[in-house]
Amino acid sequence: MKSSSSSRCIAITGASSGIGRATALRFAEAKENLVLIGRDHAALAAVEKEATAKGAQTQIVKADLCAEGAAQQTTAAVLDRFSRLDVLVNAAGIISLGTIENTSLAEWDRMMDINVRVIFRLMQAAVSPLEKTKGNIVNVSSVTGLRSFPNVLAYCVSKAALDQLTRCAALELAPKGIRVNAVNPGVVATNLHRRSGFDEQKYAAFLAHSKTTHPLGRVGSPEEIAELIFFLASDQAGWITGETISIDGGRHLTCAR
Ligand SMILES: NC(=O)c1ccc[n+]([C@@H]2O[C@H](COP(=O)([O-])OP(=O)(O)OC[C@H]3O[C@@H](n4cnc5c(N)ncnc54)[C@H](OP(=O)(O)O)[C@@H]3O)[C@@H](O)[C@H]2O)c1
Repeated sequence: MKSSSSSRCIAITGASSGIGRATALRFAEAKENLVLIGRDHAALAAVEKEATAKGAQTQIVKADLCAEGAAQQTTAAVLDRFSRLDVLVNAAGIISLGTIENTSLAEWDRMMDINVRVIFRLMQAAVSPLEKTKGNIVNVSSVTGLRSFPNVLAYCVSKAALDQLTRCAALELAPKGIRVNAVNPGVVATNLHRRSGFDEQKYAAFLAHSKTTHPLGRVGSPEEIAELIFFLASDQAGWITGETISIDGGRHLTCAR
């Protein structure tokens, strides 16, 4: 049975900020039922207000997804509120700088935890409810999963792992009618880099430099990424699975020179 778009339940991690927030608001435009997952309750409440104004029904789940049992508790909260799950969007993630020589084991583990382990756990917990709705998963990866960049080693590895997790799960879950895809953005203007320690001056310089590293000459907006996620989660993408789709102004086409 295909899920009816008017009554779907969409669970979005990272819904309090950036790409996850924009994704929540895009689904809200379609008046879907939304579960907004994050740690910052005030930010989630602000997104909820905007989403309900667009006609969506919402539920906030405040959770540190790295906490023990959080993936299972979050999935239970989704089912408790809407009795179904149609789409899981994994947009929660972090970045930090570091090379093979100076990345501490603690930083490596912190990166792998939220960017890979949490998503693995959420996907596992989502299989049974998604099988019932013939639903799908969209993971937010990065151009760094597909290409190598210096001084973001753990982040690149976490996103490459997420891409392979996406492909392997897509293959295994296809017989159950569950699709799994990923989007691979280039630089997008959000809070991601500020949270990694960039001050406003450094972030402005990074955005300016990014105009030269993305062939289309600009960074992306969260809304552009949300539109692709919305498409991949729709029945219009019903024959697409296991894809890692670049949305990066051509960044993945470039080589250092
Ligand atoms: N911005 C870019 O240039 C870019 C490019 C490629 C890929 N991406 C990917 O896009 C995704 C979204 O990032 P963004 O750019 O939108 O960054 P952002 O604005 O910093 O948003 C990150 C989100 O992740 C959530 N989060 C982080 N750790 C969490 C945890 N332990 N538990 C629960 N929620 C957690 C945050 O929630 P709270 O604020 O509520 O804690 C926030 O909603 C990430 O996976 C990132 O790697 C971003």
